[in-house]
Amino acid sequence: QNVHIIGAATAFGQPRLGVDLGPDAIRYAGIVQRLKELGISVVDKGNIRGDFDIEAGQEIEVRDDNLLNYDAVKRFNTALAGLVDDTVGNGAFPLILGGDHSLAIGSLAGMKNHYDNLGVIWYDAHGDLNDSRTSPTGNIHGMPLGISCGFGDQALIDLYEEGQKVKPENVVLIGMRDLDEGEKAYIKENGILTFTMMDIRVKGIRTVMQETMTYLSDRCDGIHLSLDVDGLDPSETPGTGTPVVGGLSLSETQLAMQMLNESDRITSMDLVEVNPLLDDKNMTAEKAVEIAAYLFGKKQL
Ligand code: ARG
Ligand code: MN
Ligand code: MN
Ligand code: MN
Repeated sequence: QNVHIIGAATAFGQPRLGVDLGPDAIRYAGIVQRLKELGISVVDKGNIRGDFDIEAGQEIEVRDDNLLNYDAVKRFNTALAGLVDDTVGNGAFPLILGGDHSLAIGSLAGMKNHYDNLGVIWYDAHGDLNDSRTSPTGNIHGMPLGISCGFGDQALIDLYEEGQKVKPENVVLIGMRDLDEGEKAYIKENGILTFTMMDIRVKGIRTVMQETMTYLSDRCDGIHLSLDVDGLDPSETPGTGTPVVGGLSLSETQLAMQMLNESDRITSMDLVEVNPLLDDKNMTAEKAVEIAAYLFGKKQL
């Protein structure tokens, strides 16, 4: 397996600086070496930066439509979609390191060029299914899955290539515990397969992952994993901008990743929302590396 690492160094989807340093924090935690030790061939393609003409630290551009940093998010994701598309075109597995979760607009747009029935596993405390009307914050990192499903701002929906990138029936949400009212309504209206933390506590992560893969396997031609480190409990991954108590443990996540590895169906991954400026040492990036290692075949025995 040939993995291409793409550093998506963006912070424009949310207000806290430092998440744009996430890709480098994950590199310093040893991602390349750890995957190579597993026998994976890894090429680090470096970073794509968000500062095309807006510098990090510059005042957030406020528009009256509740879409913060709209132009920067759009430009960044158009560039990212092209890189992801090319990576898949070259037969490699894109591993996109974030960066805030708005980057999934671009990664899913790039994947869509190769997969008409792309499945998406959204491993996160949040659904990221808002649009400008339902968002309590205007932060676009709370919207990427909705946009990819064709819900929200039309130019973001049509980014890179026209139309919806993912069908809501090809999405599975895992780890949910902080859904806004509009997101709950969207999930119900579209019948999105959802495993809340409550479901995970009742069924166990093993059953949840089995049900996820049974559901996606037949209907999808590829399966993209979008993993927000805030899906884990903040005691495991404190270095993230929107932590929510009551999350998944590292060992549950290791098992989930091991099962995805054994399924042999995962085509691509986002590993997002690592913010080293909010972290205790670099432990969140270290957990991110551990998670990726299990996805690429690490075993305990
Ligand atoms: N639902 C909240 C919002 O729309 C929080 C979203 C957090 N998203 C994330 N990718 N961490 O602002
Ligand atoms: Mn292509
Ligand atoms: Mn989240
Ligand atoms: Mn997220």
